[in-house]
Amino acid sequence: MISKKMEEAINQQINEELYSAYLYLSMAGYFAEQNLMGFYNWLFVQYHEELAHAEKFFKYLIERGGQVRLTAIKEPERTWKSPKDAFEAVLKHEQHITGKINELVDLAEAEKDRATFAMLQWFVNEQVEEEANAQEIVAKLEMVGEHKQGLLMIDRELAQRK
Ligand code: FEO
Repeated sequence: MISKKMEEAINQQINEELYSAYLYLSMAGYFAEQNLMGFYNWLFVQYHEELAHAEKFFKYLIERGGQVRLTAIKEPERTWKSPKDAFEAVLKHEQHITGKINELVDLAEAEKDRATFAMLQWFVNEQVEEEANAQEIVAKLEMVGEHKQGLLMIDRELAQRK
């Protein structure tokens, strides 16, 4: 049986992951409005990844006999100043999520909850990838600056994500 503290923290993380999905879906809409359909594709795939993260925590909580408590998801932003501004927001958000995962790891250690600690290792590794992916796109957007041609090249590349 999982502790009440750990159960509450995992419930909060389900909300964080669902908010991540909501944020990236909102961002996908922002890019679609600008006909940047590669960026749209990348964010739509990311939206599904975040749903999968929420489901992973949800199923784990049930497996451990915990009680799932879904709470309201806050409204995400709808517009950004530029593609670079949007992807800087992705990176900042992923850094925030990494912080949340690290807090969960600290709590699992404090609670001597080995099973949760082990489950969280997947998320620790996943966050390395999540931050690296966002960082790479921010770096490319910085490289192309105001050049529309460069932006369209990145858009074509991001259209490949499945
Ligand atoms: Fe679920 Fe992008 O972290």
